[in-house]
Amino acid sequence: MAVKLKTKHLNGFVGEHELASISPALYAAADTLKNGTGAGNDFTGWVDHPVNYDKEEYARIKAAAEKIKKSCDVFVVIGIGGSYLGARAAIEFVKSPLYNNMKKDTPDIYFAGNTISASATAELLEICRDRDVCINVISKSGTTTEPAIAFRLFRELIEKKYGEEGAKERIFITTDKCRGTLKAFADEKGYETFVVPDDIGGRYSVLTAVGLLPIAVSGADIDAMMKGAADARELMKNAPVEENPALAYAAYRNILYRKGKTTEILAAYEPSFAMMCEWWKQLYGESEGKDGKGIFPASVIFSTDLHSLGQYIQMGMRNLFETVVTFASSRDGIEVPYDPANIDGLNFLASKSLYYVNSMAEAGTVLAHVDGGVPNMMIEIDARDEYNYGYLVYFFEYACGVSGYLLGVNPFDQPGVEAYKKNMFALLGKSGYEEMQVDLIERLNK
Ligand code: PA5
Repeated sequence: MAVKLKTKHLNGFVGEHELASISPALYAAADTLKNGTGAGNDFTGWVDHPVNYDKEEYARIKAAAEKIKKSCDVFVVIGIGGSYLGARAAIEFVKSPLYNNMKKDTPDIYFAGNTISASATAELLEICRDRDVCINVISKSGTTTEPAIAFRLFRELIEKKYGEEGAKERIFITTDKCRGTLKAFADEKGYETFVVPDDIGGRYSVLTAVGLLPIAVSGADIDAMMKGAADARELMKNAPVEENPALAYAAYRNILYRKGKTTEILAAYEPSFAMMCEWWKQLYGESEGKDGKGIFPASVIFSTDLHSLGQYIQMGMRNLFETVVTFASSRDGIEVPYDPANIDGLNFLASKSLYYVNSMAEAGTVLAHVDGGVPNMMIEIDARDEYNYGYLVYFFEYACGVSGYLLGVNPFDQPGVEAYKKNMFALLGKSGYEEMQVDLIERLNK
């Protein structure tokens, strides 16, 4: 098993009988997900996607990635939320958060269309100005404001550089199969398109073309990623809770939530996991935060954040539990050097590996937080590679689906995301929103 859930630090917070009591509801929730009988069941295509994916499109994704690698220095991925977080998380997890600065034979990869910031957009346009560029616009709906604005800007840049004909070789669109304006526009312009399947929502879509094309451009092995997800699916759909980390994770989260632990902190000791935390926050936040319910998903990277949020976790309000992501090994073998002057008094660490020192920081922190009243679970991952990434993604997604049904919500919709959009459109004067605009302006000026 590539992902293991370790629960010994729940002792004193959760009794063994509690897992037994929640088991009937847990299995009912898992059956609801597996059999597609729950709310949002038309968005559960991701459950079997690791084995049921479109092989012809998968081959086209690989071919497009090769073409992109050869034809540009900068690859800009335009998308927001589920349309970019998974790909960015994968590249940082498998390659590095410093991917763009590393020696490599693949293009730099930047992410745009996840903000409306003029400065962030201008800076990236400037980076692209004198370099060869390809873009991948990812939007299931095709109408999301942030990526749509970025697409206008980057298409303009590409058309100016290469002309309309040249743009056809450099613009790749990932969107809904037939509905939506983006697909029609791409066909009219002659851009290559990839599909966000109808039955897979944004935050569950990283193992479709949404994530796979950018990930493949980074040189990561997407075959190994899909194999990891397929192996996880085999286990998580079939194994009982004692052998099934996804079911166990869903169950313990729910038990803790019922005890008033309403915030979950996902903690990792590797900066390469920071974007994975962002992906996880969207997955759990959008899936569970509704109907006045849900665990608030927060994240930290330690030991960095021990020097900022550590104080709160140790001694603040006791509504927290912590899920620590830990790696069974490190691929880098750096050791602490010996210093004859020993001015920092750290010679007792000389020739110890940084992985070992980091592990001791982790172990010491876990025990301190448990002593401070923070229940703790640990997710152990074998290695930082493609197989483990695919396995972990499936683990978190499966646990999230089960967890949502256990909570009694639809884990596959996101009605709350619309509220800000309506206000923004009204304030920006979109037609049809006139009355709302008057009302909002009055409220802002009160
Ligand atoms: O999970 C989701 O559905 C959302 O986060 C979407 O991915 C996000 O809003 C972007 O939507 P779209 O792909 O339609 O542009």
